[in-house]
Amino acid sequence: MAKLNPTKNSLPEDARKQLVEHLNERLATLIDLQLQSKQLHWTLRSPHFIALHELLDELVDDVSGYADLVAERAAQLGGIADGTLATVTSKSVLDDLKAKNISTEDLLLIITDALGKAGGVMRESIDWTDDLNDAATSDIFTEITRGLDAWLWKFEAHQGK
Ligand SMILES: [Fe+2]
Repeated sequence: MAKLNPTKNSLPEDARKQLVEHLNERLATLIDLQLQSKQLHWTLRSPHFIALHELLDELVDDVSGYADLVAERAAQLGGIADGTLATVTSKSVLDDLKAKNISTEDLLLIITDALGKAGGVMRESIDWTDDLNDAATSDIFTEITRGLDAWLWKFEAHQGK
């Protein structure tokens, strides 16, 4: 585990090391989700284009904010935030996305799957970080999970079933 920067943060060093590593793993999934949402914003071909195109940009903005919360938390705990492409590629839990035309049906399948997976691992992080007595990081994951659950609902509602 990487050495930490000096800090007067009162959490024990061993816990902070584990938290930083965990935060960087979740950061990878959030950056991937942000990039995939933008990719889908560009490649959508749909009778509902403008509504979904604009909705995807709102998702990109929200997910960018979540990534920022997670990266800066890692820094606050003395760690080095790692949003590099190599780490995103190796640590993201999302399926790979192909650059191709995306229909409404494809979009809804891809984005609900990605939001379900990302929301699922963020929900696991709520308890994982709480078990290390870091209620502040746990609160960040609660906020992100709540946000991703809401986004999943918005896209699932478009599936009309
Ligand atoms: Fe755009």
